[in-house]
Amino acid sequence: MLQAIKYSKGNLEILDQLQLPFIETFIPVRTTEDGWHAIKDMKVRGAPAIAIVAMLSLASELTSAIETGKLAQGAEEVCQYITEKLAYLVTSRPTAVNLADAARKLEAVVVARTKTSGSQGCEVADAFIQAAEDMMGSDLQDNQRIGHNGAEWIATHAAKPGSSEVAVLTHCNTGSLATSGYGTALGVVRSLASKNILRHAYCTETRPYNQGSRLTAFELVHDKIPATLITDSMAAALLADKNVGVNAIVVGADRVAANGDTANKIGTYALAVLAKYHGVKFLVAAPRTTIDMATKSGDDIIIEQRPASEVTSIKGPRGGSTTTDKVEIETVKIAAPGINVWNPAFDITPASLIDGIITEIGVMEKGSDGQFHLGGLFDEST
Ligand code: MRU
Repeated sequence: MLQAIKYSKGNLEILDQLQLPFIETFIPVRTTEDGWHAIKDMKVRGAPAIAIVAMLSLASELTSAIETGKLAQGAEEVCQYITEKLAYLVTSRPTAVNLADAARKLEAVVVARTKTSGSQGCEVADAFIQAAEDMMGSDLQDNQRIGHNGAEWIATHAAKPGSSEVAVLTHCNTGSLATSGYGTALGVVRSLASKNILRHAYCTETRPYNQGSRLTAFELVHDKIPATLITDSMAAALLADKNVGVNAIVVGADRVAANGDTANKIGTYALAVLAKYHGVKFLVAAPRTTIDMATKSGDDIIIEQRPASEVTSIKGPRGGSTTTDKVEIETVKIAAPGINVWNPAFDITPASLIDGIITEIGVMEKGSDGQFHLGGLFDEST
């Protein structure tokens, strides 16, 4: 399976996703500044991957400070340093809650270690590094569980009577490249394929950034999963086509509000409306770290606006060729110069259009009152 994040103590490298699928280059991320820019410039993207790279960029910076004797000795001083760096990292992209959630949890670890009597600066830094490393491992496990839970739900609730196979449509990239591995919504597709339940997967191009055609298609081809790429504008026709028979749409999430309203890649809302019209199940797959109980509804979610150039131009290999040794990525302008552009990176899908929220502990459906009760996902017993 593809891997977007390579980490060993003090060494963090990420696959530069701006070059994919034409060039596979890993670039080093040594400092929090490197991490911030890699996230802002979308060299790494996807809610869980953003959080992991941010935390590991600070872990790598601290490891190097310890090794070179540059780390402050006092616990309080190191704690303050880490807190400031976390606050900075959180400003890189605003919509995905995983980053803010990770920063909050790791800050709590560091504050607790600082309060332990007799703590040295390097012990506080070590506590942070350990917690950041643990995050990466637990994300992978969560994704595998999400994949399994989603596949079981789809097989039970979305397959046509008498049929043991399903066709699914997914949007954006939610796979290995967006997480520590396996993926969320694409993890569900992977799990369906591994259980021999998947008849066919469809992925949208996902304009304007083409995470679908560049990244998801790359993962599906790499894993030899039977799949077809469509442009975003073809989704309605695909769902209407009885020969295709899409059973479910499964997408990821950047932030799920307490009422189930979900922020995800622009175009998700349109797919949910189409799913409702065509009687196709619509599922959101996300780890519990993406559920933000502090945000009441989608109205309270900040939607990141991206540069106009992402809409007015498109990237590809120079000369269209991927067969030479020296493939270079070039940007080609495709829109009339001077036109105004609106480029929100995400949209909000109302909870009313969502049939289920797939997490690592199961699939949450609405209660008899027609509402999601997501607080239940955080009960002590779960
Ligand atoms: O702008 P991006 O590429 O970071 O947006 C990614 C998405 O919207 C994903 O669906 C979401 O982050 C979930 S990734 C597991």
